Amino acid sequence: MPIDDLTAFGPDFAWGAATSAYQVEGAVAEDGRAPSIWDAFCRVPGAIAGGDTGDVACDHYHRWPADLALMAELGLRAYRFSIAWPRVLPAGGGPVNAAGLAFYDRLVDALLTAGIEPHPTLYHWDLPQALQDRGGWPSRDTAGRFAEYASVVAAALGDRVTSWATLNEPVCAAWIGHLQGTMAPGVADIRAAVPAAYHLLLAHGLGAQAVRAAAPGARVGVVNLLTDCEPGGEDEADAAAARREDGHHNRWWLDPIHGRGFPADMIEVYGVEPPVRTSDLEAIAAPLDWLGVNYYRRSVTVADPGGPPPHVRQITPAGTPRTGMDWEIHPDRLAKILVRVTEDYAPRSIMVTENGAAYADTVAPGGAVHDAERTAYLEGHLSACASAIRAGVPLDGYFAWSLLDNFEWAYGYAQRFGLVHVDFATQERRVKDSGRRYAEIIRAHRDLR
Ligand code: NOJ
Repeated sequence: MPIDDLTAFGPDFAWGAATSAYQVEGAVAEDGRAPSIWDAFCRVPGAIAGGDTGDVACDHYHRWPADLALMAELGLRAYRFSIAWPRVLPAGGGPVNAAGLAFYDRLVDALLTAGIEPHPTLYHWDLPQALQDRGGWPSRDTAGRFAEYASVVAAALGDRVTSWATLNEPVCAAWIGHLQGTMAPGVADIRAAVPAAYHLLLAHGLGAQAVRAAAPGARVGVVNLLTDCEPGGEDEADAAAARREDGHHNRWWLDPIHGRGFPADMIEVYGVEPPVRTSDLEAIAAPLDWLGVNYYRRSVTVADPGGPPPHVRQITPAGTPRTGMDWEIHPDRLAKILVRVTEDYAPRSIMVTENGAAYADTVAPGGAVHDAERTAYLEGHLSACASAIRAGVPLDGYFAWSLLDNFEWAYGYAQRFGLVHVDFATQERRVKDSGRRYAEIIRAHRDLR
């Protein structure tokens, strides 16, 4: 990455890395934590590669002081993590589990002492199973319970935490969890998916209100996975497929959050009306302090009339470089998305809340992990961030996904995204070459002043 690119980033740029609770913490039955929908989904035969679970994961619940030392070694200025709802409110609502909340209290204090800004996300997919048993996201009540939970956490941590994200990638919780059925809770029904999507957005709106009420001065955002959508062929049908994919992935989430309501074309595609109430739309559209963008790849689609809504099929054109997930690598599309979001929705501030790549890393004799491909991915995407900033995007932070190799949902432990390698048999951590390079970049940026 040319040093010249570094001058694009402002002096207070949040150089960070991200994780999420279920993917790293483990300790699923400790200190009063109750099961989440992911604990249940991991027990469904065949749901997770290798039969893996998050029971132990990176054992971060116990090893967090060592992980914090690694963050300090990398020179991170910010750490994005998520709070496990079933640790704080094991029944989803009702009595607060003080021991669960205390874990995040300790973590926040230690981060601040180390000079690393905490960026918690309130929901990264681990819905308390107790709420699933009462209807889950397709039920309106779940949004209200989320607001209650958000209020409890913001009241406890809001004296020290400024930056809050309500939800991580509601697109996956709704569509992969309730339409494809390959993530928890494993439902495949558009009549469940549309209300789930609606109530996730409502949860964001009510949760943002709750955080602001409990923690004046909070800066509240939401994290969306955004994808640049392209037609996979020359036909009008392919162009229409790409528009549907864009509606499904991007506009369905960005439009209501920015006061434009739900895209009419997508309601028609789904054939299911979201259960809209006018006051909900106002809550969903309350101005954000920042918008989180997770970016991994572009999406190339063709029409698939026989498939479930939005009736598209993704293709992977031959000849483009891919990561271990078989995801195409296009750093320029990150810049394109950031510019588009800025032009179309004018957010006050944007943070790239996730970006990264999985590769089959190996530990060399002596303990090094030479992950040149991930280093190139990182540098390419940071250069794209620099171009976006130069094009006028108000980008204030970048969080590499992920700090640690971790539980990659339905892929189990087979896909490694970390800047730090984790040996899951011994829990030994080793900073990869990409982590060292990231540390150099952060240091070089600091030394510009
Ligand atoms: C986005 C999700 O937020 C995160 O949990 C996941 O591990 C990464 N994508 C990589 O798939």
